[in-house]
Amino acid sequence: MKTRIGILTSGGDCPGLNAVLRGAALAADKLGWEMLGFRDGFEGLLPPGDFTILDRKCTENIMALGGTLIGTTNRGHFVAKIGAGDRAVVAADVIEKARKVLNDDRVEALVIVGGDGSMTTALQLQEAGINCVGVPKTIDNDLEATAMTFGFDSAVAAVVDALDRLHTTATSHKRAIVVEVMGRHAGWIALHGGLAGGADVILIPEIPFDFDKVADAIRARDAAGDLSSLVVVAEGARPRDGQQVKRDIKDGEFRLGGIGDIVAREIAARTAKETRTCVLGHLQRGGAPTTLDRILGTRFGVKAVQLINESHFGSMVSYQNYQVRHVPIADAVNRLRLVPPNGEMVQTARDVEISFGD
Ligand code: F6P
Repeated sequence: MKTRIGILTSGGDCPGLNAVLRGAALAADKLGWEMLGFRDGFEGLLPPGDFTILDRKCTENIMALGGTLIGTTNRGHFVAKIGAGDRAVVAADVIEKARKVLNDDRVEALVIVGGDGSMTTALQLQEAGINCVGVPKTIDNDLEATAMTFGFDSAVAAVVDALDRLHTTATSHKRAIVVEVMGRHAGWIALHGGLAGGADVILIPEIPFDFDKVADAIRARDAAGDLSSLVVVAEGARPRDGQQVKRDIKDGEFRLGGIGDIVAREIAARTAKETRTCVLGHLQRGGAPTTLDRILGTRFGVKAVQLINESHFGSMVSYQNYQVRHVPIADAVNRLRLVPPNGEMVQTARDVEISFGD
């Protein structure tokens, strides 16, 4: 009988997940193993077990597809944490049910593709004796133990594409346009997207801003004859004396969003400039992965299977110094990788006249 391993994708989807599935399935096939793809994240581990066999045939032509072939969820019985430092404990009977499904189906190890919350769950499964390896995924790029997650580059590309389009309409109408982007508590998408897309102001959670300073920056541009301005706002950004804008707060969980409209309103009030808002939302998560994310996803998927083959359970694939390596999953949770406010990237942005509203 063939050795069987499983894989699941958990948390918010992102471009590059199918490249991981393909890489892992082909690497398993090369070892003569069988790969089970559990559907809808960890939920697929619940009895009777919801999976599909990921054979060579399934992997054909999936690399360029966004989303995930086997589905995902960021809700459910294995609910993971939502913010830095909050550890949600998965109920012991839920873990026990998953263990029984895996035993009954002869699954020897599990590849868990997810972000911070999913790795917290993976760690608890590992601690309960289920062999796990993690693959870091998130458009937010906020995992401490890896220099980069796949999905981030594709999300940034979507922001840049949007800014390229918005530049022309903003210029034609001499308007300010505020673009709200994702990223949760980290400003990486806003910083990289804003820098590459030629934004004039970038507001990120790591640098609380002042509405007057944002308005000053726009007025200064107007005075210099630059009559349109693009302002990129991370969904987690907040004014110096204010809070993040949260919605749908339930059981301690919440979604971020809405700061874009507030910033636009305050700019209009202070500058009398016609101002519009564009919320990019899930456009940043959909669509085909960039070349970089296809390659990173493939490398991560192959590495995960290698880690199982070498019995490196409890570890997570990690990208460091252009090499794909591994770290303990425990090192990857509980700490978010945030933008250093005085780091080189922020300084570079300041040097090309981008204001952070501070
Ligand atoms: O973590 C990825 C992410 O896209 C965040 O940037 C965003 O805040 C969140 O997920 C949105 O989640 P949902 O798809 O549940 O609205």
